[in-house]
Amino acid sequence: MIDWSKLTFHYTETDYIVRSACHNGIWGKPYATRDKYMSIHVAATGLQYGQECFEGLKAFRGIDGKVRIFRMEENAKRMQRSAEGLLMTPIPAELFCEAIQLALEKNIDFLPPYETGATLYFRPVLVATTPEISVGPGKDCEFIVIPTPIGPYFPNGFKGTPFLVNRSIDRAAPQGTGQWKVGGNYAASFRASEMAHALGYECMFTDAKTHRYIDECTASNFIGIKRLATGDYEYLTPRSSAILPSITNDSLMTLASEMGLKVTRRRIRLEELADMCEAAACGTACVISPITKVVDLDRDKVYPLGEPGPVLTQLYHALQDIQYGRVEDKYGWTRIFEL
Ligand SMILES: Cc1ncc(COP(=O)(O)O)c(C=O)c1O
Repeated sequence: MIDWSKLTFHYTETDYIVRSACHNGIWGKPYATRDKYMSIHVAATGLQYGQECFEGLKAFRGIDGKVRIFRMEENAKRMQRSAEGLLMTPIPAELFCEAIQLALEKNIDFLPPYETGATLYFRPVLVATTPEISVGPGKDCEFIVIPTPIGPYFPNGFKGTPFLVNRSIDRAAPQGTGQWKVGGNYAASFRASEMAHALGYECMFTDAKTHRYIDECTASNFIGIKRLATGDYEYLTPRSSAILPSITNDSLMTLASEMGLKVTRRRIRLEELADMCEAAACGTACVISPITKVVDLDRDKVYPLGEPGPVLTQLYHALQDIQYGRVEDKYGWTRIFEL
């Protein structure tokens, strides 16, 4: 029996995963299996050269008892872009969604109840399986959906988390793979994250070329709120070729402009943190996680941001109200299942 309230952002095994293989450009029908291991050729380009990409999305048990999956089609499209970026065979969006739906149906007992703060997370993975030793892309691949019930991404959740900027390790090059959700980006970020964790922080990356502009966090985009001279608020988020286009951030930008905020996506200098009244990391995993302060290790500077503020709190509730079915989803962001 799972204690939903004790779940953190770690893997808990469920009954089934879902798999589909692509051979010679032909995709097989997604099927559910209890077997959590796969047999793969030792020379697969996914193993040799990191030809692999993944996704992350959630299903929510709503206030009305129905299940909602948030913007699944956007994850399907982003996985196609990641696959194209690594010269892999993209999985058709319909097949991606069919596999997620099957993973939900087969693991419905692992969907946390409403108001536990936990959700059922899906980790779709696409890995190239063609055996090759010469450096080059393989076309055959395996698509896997790994479901797992999860709790908050950051231990402090909405209470806020301190972040550390450390210019000695870069995550993604400006014209590299940062815009895609490929495993190599995350392996490249491990050292920086571990250094930050050892000092009691989460990790924030600046752009790898000049180290002057905010890029993003380990698994989330950055948002900052500025109070304008008019008394209105501005929602600021970085424009960068090296960051992942976050579906959460995209949704929040829509909600923010509907709330009357000025929404701006542009390059943001690290020093601009001093002019922000609120800031947060945002993503599927962490939703909106307020940033309490940013420490710039190399310049010996601290940007205090304080307690979670009213603007981010309002945005957080607006997003979660849609995800949990507490308000009407007028954007068509959720796919609803009666399970
Ligand atoms: C590097 C990175 N940036 C941003 C995000 C947030 O993206 P999304 O809101 O689509 O989950 C993620 C998580 O997927 C991520 O890994």
